[in-house]
Amino acid sequence: MRIVGLGAGPANLYASILFRKAFPDCSVVLHERNREDDTFGFGVVFSDETLGHFKDADPESFAAITARFARWTDIDTWFRGEWTVSTGHGFCGLARVELLKILGERARALGVDIRYGTEITDPTTVPDADLVLCGDGVASAVRTKWADMFRPTVTQGKARFAWLGTTKPLKAFTFVFAPTEHGPFAVHAYPYRTSPTPLSTWIVECHEDTWRKSGLDRCDEPETKRRMEALFEPWLDGHPLLINRSIWRSFPTVTCERWNHGKYVLLGDASHTAHFSIGSGTKLAMEDAIALVDAFKVHGTKDVPKTLDAFTTARRPETLKLQKAAKTSREWFENVARYEGQSATQFTFNLMTRSRRITYGNLAKRDPALVDRTARAFALAAGLAVTADGPVVPPVFTPFRLRDMTVPNRFVVSPMCQYSAKDGTPDDWHLVHLGSRAVGGAGLLIAEATAVTPDGRITPGCTGLWNDAHEAAWKRVVDFVHGHSASKIGIQIGHAGAKASCRLLWEGGAPLAAPDAWPTIGVTSTPFNTGDPAPRAVDRADMDRLVEAFMLAARRADRAGFDLLELHMAHGYLLSSFLSPLSNTRTDAYGGTLENRMRFPLEIAERVRAVWPAAKPLSVRLSASDWLDEAGGQTVEDSIVIAAALKARGVDVIDVSSAGNSLKSKPEYGRMYQASFADAIRHGAGVPVIAVGGISDGDQANTLLAAGACDLVAIARAHLGDPYLALHAAAGLPPGTVAWPKQYLAVRR
Ligand SMILES: Cc1cc2nc3c(=O)[nH]c(=O)nc-3n(C[C@H](O)[C@H](O)[C@H](O)COP(=O)(O)OP(=O)(O)OC[C@H]3O[C@@H](n4cnc5c(N)ncnc54)[C@H](O)[C@@H]3O)c2cc1C
Ligand SMILES: Cc1cc2nc3c(=O)[nH]c(=O)nc-3n(C[C@H](O)[C@H](O)[C@H](O)COP(=O)(O)O)c2cc1C
Repeated sequence: MRIVGLGAGPANLYASILFRKAFPDCSVVLHERNREDDTFGFGVVFSDETLGHFKDADPESFAAITARFARWTDIDTWFRGEWTVSTGHGFCGLARVELLKILGERARALGVDIRYGTEITDPTTVPDADLVLCGDGVASAVRTKWADMFRPTVTQGKARFAWLGTTKPLKAFTFVFAPTEHGPFAVHAYPYRTSPTPLSTWIVECHEDTWRKSGLDRCDEPETKRRMEALFEPWLDGHPLLINRSIWRSFPTVTCERWNHGKYVLLGDASHTAHFSIGSGTKLAMEDAIALVDAFKVHGTKDVPKTLDAFTTARRPETLKLQKAAKTSREWFENVARYEGQSATQFTFNLMTRSRRITYGNLAKRDPALVDRTARAFALAAGLAVTADGPVVPPVFTPFRLRDMTVPNRFVVSPMCQYSAKDGTPDDWHLVHLGSRAVGGAGLLIAEATAVTPDGRITPGCTGLWNDAHEAAWKRVVDFVHGHSASKIGIQIGHAGAKASCRLLWEGGAPLAAPDAWPTIGVTSTPFNTGDPAPRAVDRADMDRLVEAFMLAARRADRAGFDLLELHMAHGYLLSSFLSPLSNTRTDAYGGTLENRMRFPLEIAERVRAVWPAAKPLSVRLSASDWLDEAGGQTVEDSIVIAAALKARGVDVIDVSSAGNSLKSKPEYGRMYQASFADAIRHGAGVPVIAVGGISDGDQANTLLAAGACDLVAIARAHLGDPYLALHAAAGLPPGTVAWPKQYLAVRR
């Protein structure tokens, strides 16, 4: 097999080493436009785990890398003048130029022909080859040439960074957060050479606005060096910063729908990038090489395109997972100003768990002292009597107070339609569904989307709260919960708007047909889905009727004994459809600007608050984002404004969900996938929040709570599978952490 490579970065060098080892008959020629010792940047960092993969793939280059690297296990964080050390993290750093040298020498020793100083500007002119390795970096010419095949997306980050170095010797990975009048600057620094002269990487990053306001957009490299030396003078101990093409850039996140085209395959940064804050671009590039050669070992060299398909299919999901973590981490740094008020301990916990790959439980294994300090501070703030060395419960098992309601723990059973009511009346199913989850120990249960009028039901099986029978049936459920558990119970009231009059979930959920269908109302007369029955656009008389219906339902909820009331303003139902610019195209005082779009939902909140008892908390579930920022959808910034306006009208907590107003929305599902919206609203609007979405256990709940991303954690699907989730999460913790039903004490774990 004749292999030609564009570029001699880590991806192509490592791939050629592994190809020559696995297929000694193959020929490999790499074309690299740079000179051999000509490279940007300073050091690269690898985790212990990554090194393990390299050891298995090529022990020789692994030995050379480990012979030259600087190793450390601590992460130092400087925040608000305090220095916090987190231990138990295994990393190593080495100069990028060293890494390229090691890989280059190893490749040449295995017979790879590396032609430095040769640029291939047109990939179609590559001389005869059976396989072309396109490891040509983040600005890949190959990716651009066949963009229609690879279908790349390149998103620029909102921060600016400059990759600098310093002679200051560092003993650990070091984060420095320096506030300035224009916003905070963050440093990501680590050692990569210990002798003869110690050298460290010193990447400076700040939000684009901070960068501009600071005038750094007008600074050349020497001026950047001077300004950054002045800013970080307290940490540099007189050492200079070093420059090497240290221009300010924004981080481009590259993804490609396809990685291969005929005999061409994209590797490393050419096909995907991962923000440097999780230090994994070089790792990804080298692991691509391992996966590519493995694919050829399994699928053979005869049908190159087929083998490349197999490589892409196997490797892409793994990469996407890491890119997702990198995106979460990048956004955390872009928004770091949010956390300026946190204590150094909480901030450090927040920083360590920012990508959500490391959770409370993982971190407790690496650095039990930091997690213990975080838990103690959290419990103390929650009002528990905590001593310096006495027992302490994890954050999710601390109580939380809203007005006069105190929930015993922070697990919330998220509202879930059961489609099992008759004429809106909940029955034994609802009693057992909610009752068993109360017995299961959740601190708060929120009963399903319950319509305030008959036409506001999503399906004929949805519950209602517009008549006495409903009120009495709900009271039976509430009484059971109060009588047999320590849980509190709330109810979500709403109107389905244009999404009403549908079949039950297990009957497909499509709009009902005559004679079962009923006329619907909506923010406009446009149906949610093209071809669905058109709703009638609500007018002011409808709004008056709806305000009354919401107020009546609130009064009934109070009489039924509910502890909390939640207004459903999410998922594209009536109030949600007023908020989103994608669904609300009205031209009157209730459409257009955000102020207009909020008008009716805010009126509902205000009027309901007036009749809902002052001692009881009011919640609002919001769709914080349409996930269509570029298409003009509702953004999290809009939702911060909405949340602040709701707070001003007496709303106590925002239950932060997303999407539902457009079929075009593409939520990035995954673990804790909406938590960053909750975090943004909590800090941006200064209001307590419930996080929800992809949260499956106590460990994830503790992670979000301890980081300060939310106040309560709602779990929906995982609670369907395990009504006793809260009790199970308390396994191994001191008795009394969660209230077990007395009937079940015999099996308490
Ligand atoms: C500020 C910053 C800090 C980073 N820190 C880390 C870190 O700590 N750890 C880490 O693992 N990663 C880090 N990275 C990422 C890392 O540098 C890249 O992810 C990694 O180098 C990707 O390797 P690659 O082989 O895909 O591409 P590259 O290393 O970019 O190599 C591509 C090569 O192709 C050559 N080339 C391009 N086009 C042509 C052509 N037409 N003809 C011939 N040659 C061509 C280029 O000259 C280049 O040498 C960082 C990146 C940045 C920007
Ligand atoms: C069966 C089912 C019914 C749901 N019904 C409602 C509802 O009535 N009101 C609501 O706001 N969300 C509803 N949701 C959304 C959940 O409350 C929750 O936001 C979503 O499932 C994400 O959380 P999870 O990943 O923990 O499941 C429902 C979800 C499911 C699975």
